[in-house]
Amino acid sequence: MRLRVHHHDRVDSTSERAFASLAEGTALHGDVHVAREQTSGRGRRGARWHSPPGEGLYLSAVLLPPARGPEGLAPVAPSLAGALAVRAALSELGLGPARGLELKWPNDLLVRGAKVSGVLAEARGLDPARPHCVLGLGINVAQRSFPPELVAERPVTSLALEGLALSTGEVLAALLPALERRIERCSRAPEELAREYLEATGLQGARVSVRTAADERTGRLVGLTLAGGIELDPDEGGALERGPARTVRIALGHVQALRRAGS
Ligand code: BTN
Repeated sequence: MRLRVHHHDRVDSTSERAFASLAEGTALHGDVHVAREQTSGRGRRGARWHSPPGEGLYLSAVLLPPARGPEGLAPVAPSLAGALAVRAALSELGLGPARGLELKWPNDLLVRGAKVSGVLAEARGLDPARPHCVLGLGINVAQRSFPPELVAERPVTSLALEGLALSTGEVLAALLPALERRIERCSRAPEELAREYLEATGLQGARVSVRTAADERTGRLVGLTLAGGIELDPDEGGALERGPARTVRIALGHVQALRRAGS
């Protein structure tokens, strides 16, 4: 599978563009819609994604793997794939973990706590015979400032503010091969994404806190897989169903926050 890039100047949202092509029946697995500007860029939980012309990289990839089963799409996999691809690209461009880049569950990329990139994985009217996902990625590239309402919400940064003077085209060129590799893994080797995620966060064996809608648990992170979720050796007993030993398992779809305990 090779990614095919479709360039747009001004769109409402690159993800809407991708969904429109799915609805028209013209979408292909690996189509990537990139725009110079979005007039209704959206983020997670109904937020707006600030998308001024030429200042950020705004793209959405169509995931439409050919068959079900091992070739289908594991839930959460696209989301992790997007975050890992952005992380790899930013690291290659010189903004890696040594410069403060960190991955925050499930797919935010932060530089010393300030958000530099976001990922939005969406599916609509899922056809079980042909699972699909639109994977939207936004990277703040050249912004020197952000609207006050955005800054009031949370710390935010860009590659330019981190000292990297790059064009969106240069960032796209670094991102595409990293994205292609992870999209491939989504359907063919999804557990590799879980392994890479765990390695990238450095949380294996660490004392973590896991928040779900039901509660927040702390304990040692024993493992993380797409099929089995988070395996936690909890600090103390609780209501969740226990595994054969002392550990509890929490499905990834239920995890709202995963962080190092005490951070
Ligand atoms: C987040 O809230 O962290 C996710 C932000 C995702 C933004 C990208 S920009 C390209 C694509 N098109 C959209 O409308 N949103 C995503």
